[in-house]
Amino acid sequence: MINATVPLDKARAELAEHYDLSFSPAVKAETADLYDRVRDQIPEVEWAFYAPLIRTINALKKEKDAVILAHNYQTPQIFFGVADFVGDSLQLAIEATKVSQSVIVQCGVHFMAETSKLLNPEKTVLIPDSRAGCSLASSITPEDVMAMRAQYPGAPVVTYVNTSADVKAVTDVCCTSSNALEIVDGVEGDTVIMIPDQYLAQNTAKKTKKKIVTWAGACEVHETFTANDIEELRASYPGAKIIAHPECPPDVIDAVDFSGSTSGMINWVKTEKPTKVVMVTECSMSDNVAAETPEVEFLRGCNFCPHMKRINLENILWSLHTGTEEITVPEDIAGPARAAVERMINFGKKSH
Ligand code: 13P
Ligand code: SF4
Repeated sequence: MINATVPLDKARAELAEHYDLSFSPAVKAETADLYDRVRDQIPEVEWAFYAPLIRTINALKKEKDAVILAHNYQTPQIFFGVADFVGDSLQLAIEATKVSQSVIVQCGVHFMAETSKLLNPEKTVLIPDSRAGCSLASSITPEDVMAMRAQYPGAPVVTYVNTSADVKAVTDVCCTSSNALEIVDGVEGDTVIMIPDQYLAQNTAKKTKKKIVTWAGACEVHETFTANDIEELRASYPGAKIIAHPECPPDVIDAVDFSGSTSGMINWVKTEKPTKVVMVTECSMSDNVAAETPEVEFLRGCNFCPHMKRINLENILWSLHTGTEEITVPEDIAGPARAAVERMINFGKKSH
Protein backbone atom coordinates (compact mmCIF):
# COMPACT_ATOMS: atom_id res chain seq x y z
CA MET A 1 0.00 0.00 0.00
CA ILE A 2 1.16 3.53 -0.71
CA ASN A 3 -0.72 4.70 2.39
CA ALA A 4 -3.82 3.94 4.38
CA THR A 5 -6.27 5.61 2.05
CA VAL A 6 -4.96 5.22 -1.50
CA PRO A 7 -4.85 1.89 -3.35
CA LEU A 8 -1.37 1.07 -4.64
CA ASP A 9 -2.25 0.73 -8.33
CA LYS A 10 -4.14 4.04 -8.40
CA ALA A 11 -1.30 5.91 -6.69
CA ARG A 12 1.37 4.33 -8.90
CA ALA A 13 -0.61 5.13 -12.04
CA GLU A 14 -1.02 8.74 -10.94
CA LEU A 15 2.65 9.14 -10.04
CA ALA A 16 3.69 7.71 -13.42
CA GLU A 17 1.48 10.29 -15.16
CA HIS A 18 3.34 13.14 -13.45
CA TYR A 19 6.93 11.94 -13.15
CA ASP A 20 9.36 10.02 -15.32
CA LEU A 21 10.21 7.05 -13.12
CA SER A 22 12.29 5.13 -15.66
CA PHE A 23 15.88 4.14 -14.92
CA SER A 24 17.43 5.95 -17.87
CA PRO A 25 21.22 6.14 -18.46
CA ALA A 26 21.02 9.77 -17.29
CA VAL A 27 19.41 8.75 -13.96
CA LYS A 28 21.99 5.98 -13.56
CA ALA A 29 24.85 8.44 -14.10
CA GLU A 30 23.30 11.09 -11.85
CA THR A 31 22.88 8.65 -8.94
CA ALA A 32 26.13 6.70 -9.44
CA ASP A 33 28.04 8.38 -6.56
CA LEU A 34 25.15 7.77 -4.20
CA TYR A 35 24.91 4.13 -5.25
CA ASP A 36 28.62 3.67 -4.56
CA ARG A 37 27.93 4.47 -0.87
CA VAL A 38 25.22 1.82 -0.50
CA ARG A 39 26.20 -0.86 -3.04
CA ASP A 40 26.90 -3.40 -0.27
CA GLN A 41 23.45 -2.82 1.22
CA ILE A 42 21.29 -2.45 -1.93
CA PRO A 43 21.47 -4.92 -4.86
CA GLU A 44 21.85 -3.32 -8.31
CA VAL A 45 18.49 -4.68 -9.51
CA GLU A 46 16.75 -2.83 -6.68
CA TRP A 47 18.69 0.37 -7.34
CA ALA A 48 17.10 0.54 -10.81
CA PHE A 49 13.76 0.92 -9.04
CA TYR A 50 14.92 3.30 -6.26
CA ALA A 51 17.12 5.70 -8.25
CA PRO A 52 14.33 7.39 -10.28
CA LEU A 53 12.22 7.77 -7.12
CA ILE A 54 15.16 9.29 -5.22
CA ARG A 55 15.89 11.75 -8.03
CA THR A 56 12.21 12.75 -8.30
CA ILE A 57 11.74 13.14 -4.51
CA ASN A 58 14.84 15.33 -4.22
CA ALA A 59 13.63 17.62 -7.01
CA LEU A 60 10.07 17.76 -5.68
CA LYS A 61 11.05 18.56 -2.09
CA LYS A 62 12.79 21.73 -3.33
CA GLU A 63 9.77 22.70 -5.42
CA LYS A 64 7.43 22.16 -2.44
CA ASP A 65 9.73 23.85 0.12
CA ALA A 66 9.90 20.59 2.06
CA VAL A 67 12.51 19.02 4.32
CA ILE A 68 12.81 15.30 5.05
CA LEU A 69 13.60 14.25 8.63
CA ALA A 70 14.43 10.53 8.87
CA HIS A 71 14.95 8.30 11.89
CA ASN A 72 18.05 6.09 12.10
CA TYR A 73 15.79 3.03 11.52
CA GLN A 74 14.80 4.09 8.00
CA THR A 75 16.07 2.00 5.09
CA PRO A 76 19.39 2.93 3.39
CA GLN A 77 17.59 4.20 0.27
CA ILE A 78 15.71 6.72 2.46
CA PHE A 79 18.52 7.40 4.96
CA PHE A 80 21.17 8.11 2.31
CA GLY A 81 18.97 8.87 -0.70
CA VAL A 82 16.43 11.51 0.32
CA ALA A 83 16.84 12.49 4.01
CA ASP A 84 18.01 16.03 4.79
CA PHE A 85 18.50 15.23 8.48
CA VAL A 86 18.88 11.85 10.16
CA GLY A 87 19.10 11.03 13.85
CA ASP A 88 17.61 9.52 16.98
CA SER A 89 14.31 10.70 18.46
CA LEU A 90 15.93 13.51 20.46
CA GLN A 91 18.02 14.79 17.55
CA LEU A 92 14.98 14.79 15.24
CA ALA A 93 12.90 16.67 17.83
CA ILE A 94 15.63 19.30 18.16
CA GLU A 95 16.12 19.49 14.40
CA ALA A 96 12.38 20.04 13.99
CA THR A 97 12.72 23.31 15.95
CA LYS A 98 15.34 24.63 13.52
CA VAL A 99 14.11 23.86 10.01
CA SER A 100 13.30 26.79 7.73
CA GLN A 101 11.14 24.95 5.18
CA SER A 102 7.35 25.25 5.39
CA VAL A 103 6.73 21.49 5.00
CA ILE A 104 8.26 18.67 7.07
CA VAL A 105 8.02 15.10 5.76
CA GLN A 106 8.67 12.79 8.70
CA CYS A 107 10.15 9.45 7.75
CA GLY A 108 9.64 7.56 10.96
CA VAL A 109 6.66 6.58 13.07
CA HIS A 110 3.55 8.58 13.96
CA PHE A 111 4.70 9.86 17.38
CA MET A 112 7.81 11.36 15.74
CA ALA A 113 5.69 13.26 13.21
CA GLU A 114 3.39 14.41 16.01
CA THR A 115 6.40 15.70 17.97
CA SER A 116 7.53 17.68 14.91
CA LYS A 117 4.02 19.15 14.60
CA LEU A 118 3.95 20.09 18.30
CA LEU A 119 7.19 22.02 17.84
CA ASN A 120 6.10 23.56 14.51
CA PRO A 121 2.39 24.36 14.86
CA GLU A 122 2.51 26.75 11.90
CA LYS A 123 4.17 24.27 9.50
CA THR A 124 2.66 21.44 7.49
CA VAL A 125 3.90 18.11 8.84
CA LEU A 126 3.35 15.07 6.64
CA ILE A 127 3.81 11.37 7.31
CA PRO A 128 3.89 9.07 4.26
CA ASP A 129 1.79 6.42 6.06
CA SER A 130 -0.13 7.39 9.18
CA ARG A 131 -0.49 3.74 10.16
CA ALA A 132 3.20 3.71 11.16
CA GLY A 133 2.55 3.27 14.89
CA CYS A 134 4.57 1.99 17.84
CA SER A 135 3.74 -0.69 20.42
CA LEU A 136 4.89 1.66 23.19
CA ALA A 137 2.70 4.54 22.03
CA SER A 138 -0.35 2.27 21.83
CA SER A 139 0.25 0.76 25.29
CA ILE A 140 -0.98 3.70 27.38
CA THR A 141 -3.77 6.29 27.51
CA PRO A 142 -4.10 9.64 29.34
CA GLU A 143 -6.56 7.94 31.74
CA ASP A 144 -3.88 5.39 32.64
CA VAL A 145 -1.46 8.22 33.42
CA MET A 146 -4.03 10.00 35.61
CA ALA A 147 -4.62 6.76 37.53
CA MET A 148 -0.87 6.49 38.19
CA ARG A 149 -0.76 10.10 39.35
CA ALA A 150 -3.56 9.31 41.82
CA GLN A 151 -1.63 6.27 43.08
CA TYR A 152 1.64 8.22 43.58
CA PRO A 153 0.54 11.75 44.53
CA GLY A 154 3.18 14.39 43.83
CA ALA A 155 5.52 12.09 41.88
CA PRO A 156 6.64 13.71 38.60
CA VAL A 157 5.63 11.96 35.36
CA VAL A 158 8.52 11.42 32.94
CA THR A 159 7.13 10.15 29.64
CA TYR A 160 9.11 8.55 26.82
CA VAL A 161 8.62 10.44 23.54
CA ASN A 162 7.31 7.14 22.12
CA THR A 163 3.77 8.16 23.15
CA SER A 164 0.81 9.96 21.62
CA ALA A 165 0.31 13.72 22.05
CA ASP A 166 -2.62 13.20 24.44
CA VAL A 167 -0.40 11.17 26.79
CA LYS A 168 2.35 13.82 26.53
CA ALA A 169 -0.32 16.39 27.46
CA VAL A 170 -0.72 14.86 30.95
CA THR A 171 3.05 14.59 31.43
CA ASP A 172 5.51 16.78 33.33
CA VAL A 173 8.50 16.23 31.07
CA CYS A 174 9.33 13.92 28.15
CA CYS A 175 12.51 11.91 27.73
CA THR A 176 14.19 9.81 25.06
CA SER A 177 16.54 6.89 25.46
CA SER A 178 19.51 9.26 25.16
CA ASN A 179 18.54 11.59 28.04
CA ALA A 180 16.38 9.35 30.30
CA LEU A 181 18.84 9.24 33.21
CA GLU A 182 19.58 12.96 33.04
CA ILE A 183 15.86 13.80 33.15
CA VAL A 184 15.02 11.33 35.95
CA ASP A 185 17.89 12.63 38.07
CA GLY A 186 16.96 16.25 37.25
CA VAL A 187 13.24 16.25 38.17
CA GLU A 188 12.06 17.05 41.70
CA GLY A 189 11.33 14.22 44.13
CA ASP A 190 12.64 10.81 45.13
CA THR A 191 9.92 8.82 43.36
CA VAL A 192 9.47 9.21 39.59
CA ILE A 193 6.70 7.81 37.40
CA MET A 194 8.52 6.75 34.23
CA ILE A 195 6.23 5.52 31.44
CA PRO A 196 5.40 3.58 29.31
CA ASP A 197 8.50 1.43 28.62
CA GLN A 198 9.05 -0.94 31.56
CA TYR A 199 12.49 -1.92 30.24
CA LEU A 200 13.82 1.60 29.64
CA ALA A 201 12.52 2.37 33.14
CA GLN A 202 14.19 -0.70 34.69
CA ASN A 203 17.44 0.00 32.85
CA THR A 204 17.35 3.61 34.09
CA ALA A 205 16.44 2.50 37.65
CA LYS A 206 19.73 0.59 37.81
CA LYS A 207 21.66 3.85 37.33
CA THR A 208 19.73 6.23 39.62
CA LYS A 209 19.15 6.44 43.38
CA LYS A 210 15.51 7.42 42.79
CA LYS A 211 12.59 5.05 43.08
CA ILE A 212 11.08 4.46 39.63
CA VAL A 213 7.54 3.29 39.09
CA THR A 214 6.63 2.27 35.58
CA TRP A 215 4.03 0.92 33.17
CA ALA A 216 3.83 -2.49 31.50
CA GLY A 217 4.58 -1.21 27.97
CA ALA A 218 7.34 -2.65 25.78
CA CYS A 219 8.80 -2.24 22.31
CA GLU A 220 7.68 -5.21 20.24
CA VAL A 221 11.02 -5.18 18.38
CA HIS A 222 13.37 -5.10 21.39
CA GLU A 223 11.39 -7.06 24.00
CA THR A 224 11.91 -10.28 22.03
CA PHE A 225 15.69 -10.35 22.64
CA THR A 226 16.80 -12.57 25.55
CA ALA A 227 20.02 -13.05 27.54
CA ASN A 228 20.16 -16.50 25.96
CA ASP A 229 20.23 -14.86 22.48
CA ILE A 230 23.25 -12.84 23.57
CA GLU A 231 25.00 -15.99 24.82
CA GLU A 232 24.29 -17.69 21.48
CA LEU A 233 25.58 -14.67 19.55
CA ARG A 234 28.79 -14.74 21.60
CA ALA A 235 29.22 -18.44 20.85
CA SER A 236 28.50 -17.99 17.12
CA TYR A 237 30.65 -14.88 16.64
CA PRO A 238 33.70 -15.14 18.92
CA GLY A 239 35.39 -11.78 19.43
CA ALA A 240 32.46 -9.72 18.14
CA LYS A 241 31.29 -6.78 20.24
CA ILE A 242 27.56 -6.83 20.98
CA ILE A 243 25.65 -3.59 21.54
CA ALA A 244 21.95 -3.06 22.29
CA HIS A 245 19.20 -0.46 22.63
CA PRO A 246 17.92 0.20 26.21
CA GLU A 247 14.39 -0.85 25.15
CA CYS A 248 15.76 -4.42 25.55
CA PRO A 249 15.10 -6.26 28.86
CA PRO A 250 17.66 -5.58 31.66
CA ASP A 251 19.27 -9.04 31.51
CA VAL A 252 20.04 -8.41 27.83
CA ILE A 253 21.55 -5.01 28.65
CA ASP A 254 23.64 -6.63 31.43
CA ALA A 255 25.03 -9.14 28.92
CA VAL A 256 26.12 -6.72 26.17
CA ASP A 257 29.25 -4.57 25.73
CA PHE A 258 27.45 -1.25 25.31
CA SER A 259 23.92 0.10 25.40
CA GLY A 260 22.66 3.45 24.15
CA SER A 261 20.13 5.33 22.04
CA THR A 262 20.20 4.68 18.30
CA SER A 263 22.65 7.56 17.81
CA GLY A 264 24.61 6.48 20.90
CA MET A 265 25.10 3.07 19.29
CA ILE A 266 26.11 4.59 15.94
CA ASN A 267 28.66 6.86 17.63
CA TRP A 268 30.02 3.95 19.66
CA VAL A 269 30.71 1.92 16.49
CA LYS A 270 32.27 4.92 14.71
CA THR A 271 34.50 5.72 17.69
CA GLU A 272 35.44 2.23 18.90
CA LYS A 273 35.69 0.71 15.41
CA PRO A 274 35.45 -2.91 16.64
CA THR A 275 36.61 -5.56 14.14
CA LYS A 276 33.17 -7.21 14.30
CA VAL A 277 29.93 -5.97 15.80
CA VAL A 278 26.35 -7.15 16.34
CA MET A 279 23.76 -4.38 16.76
CA VAL A 280 20.90 -5.77 18.82
CA THR A 281 18.26 -3.40 17.50
CA GLU A 282 16.45 -2.63 14.22
CA CYS A 283 18.09 -4.11 11.10
CA SER A 284 18.07 -1.06 8.81
CA MET A 285 20.17 0.87 11.31
CA SER A 286 22.81 -1.82 11.20
CA ASP A 287 22.80 -1.50 7.37
CA ASN A 288 23.12 2.30 7.56
CA VAL A 289 26.10 2.20 9.92
CA ALA A 290 27.67 -0.59 7.86
CA ALA A 291 27.57 1.67 4.80
CA GLU A 292 29.44 4.37 6.75
CA THR A 293 32.03 2.13 8.44
CA PRO A 294 33.24 -0.41 5.83
CA GLU A 295 36.21 -1.33 8.04
CA VAL A 296 33.84 -2.93 10.62
CA GLU A 297 32.22 -6.31 9.94
CA PHE A 298 28.50 -6.26 10.83
CA LEU A 299 26.95 -9.54 11.92
CA ARG A 300 23.20 -10.07 12.06
CA GLY A 301 21.37 -10.11 15.39
CA CYS A 302 18.58 -7.64 14.65
CA ASN A 303 14.81 -7.43 14.13
CA PHE A 304 12.72 -5.33 11.75
CA CYS A 305 10.25 -2.75 13.08
CA PRO A 306 7.12 -3.27 10.97
CA HIS A 307 5.98 0.29 11.67
CA MET A 308 9.20 1.94 10.52
CA LYS A 309 9.05 -0.27 7.42
CA ARG A 310 5.71 1.21 6.37
CA ILE A 311 7.63 4.21 5.06
CA ASN A 312 9.10 3.74 1.58
CA LEU A 313 10.26 5.87 -1.35
CA GLU A 314 6.98 5.46 -3.15
CA ASN A 315 4.80 6.75 -0.34
CA ILE A 316 7.29 9.58 0.36
CA LEU A 317 6.83 10.71 -3.25
CA TRP A 318 3.07 10.29 -2.94
CA SER A 319 3.12 12.34 0.26
CA LEU A 320 5.00 15.21 -1.41
CA HIS A 321 2.86 15.00 -4.54
CA THR A 322 -0.48 15.10 -2.72
CA GLY A 323 0.40 16.92 0.51
CA THR A 324 -0.87 13.95 2.58
CA GLU A 325 -1.12 12.58 5.25
CA GLU A 326 -1.13 15.77 7.28
CA ILE A 327 -0.61 15.58 11.06
CA THR A 328 -2.97 17.67 13.18
CA VAL A 329 -3.13 17.97 16.97
CA PRO A 330 -6.05 19.79 18.67
CA GLU A 331 -4.75 22.93 20.43
CA ASP A 332 -6.03 21.93 23.91
CA ILE A 333 -3.77 18.86 23.67
CA ALA A 334 -0.96 20.47 21.67
CA GLY A 335 -0.32 23.22 24.28
CA PRO A 336 0.49 20.99 27.29
CA ALA A 337 2.09 18.27 25.10
CA ARG A 338 4.41 20.87 23.53
CA ALA A 339 5.35 22.16 26.99
CA ALA A 340 6.41 18.62 28.06
CA VAL A 341 8.60 18.21 24.95
CA GLU A 342 10.08 21.71 25.31
CA ARG A 343 10.92 21.04 28.98
CA MET A 344 12.91 18.02 27.79
CA ILE A 345 14.78 20.03 25.14
CA ASN A 346 15.51 22.82 27.66
CA PHE A 347 16.87 20.27 30.14
CA GLY A 348 19.60 19.45 27.62
CA LYS A 349 20.40 23.15 27.13
CA LYS A 350 20.75 23.71 30.90
CA SER A 351 23.13 20.81 31.40
CA HIS A 352 25.50 21.50 28.46
P1 13P B 1 15.95 6.44 19.77
O1 13P B 1 15.41 7.57 20.58
O2 13P B 1 17.12 5.78 20.42
O3 13P B 1 16.19 6.86 18.37
O4 13P B 1 14.84 5.28 19.77
C1 13P B 1 13.59 5.41 19.17
C2 13P B 1 12.97 4.12 18.95
O5 13P B 1 11.84 4.04 18.56
C3 13P B 1 13.76 2.91 19.22
O6 13P B 1 13.02 1.79 19.07
FE1 SF4 C 1 8.22 1.60 18.54
FE2 SF4 C 1 9.90 -0.40 18.90
FE3 SF4 C 1 9.31 0.34 16.42
FE4 SF4 C 1 10.85 1.91 18.00
S1 SF4 C 1 11.34 -0.10 17.21
S2 SF4 C 1 9.13 2.56 16.73
S3 SF4 C 1 9.91 1.54 20.02
S4 SF4 C 1 7.87 -0.53 17.94
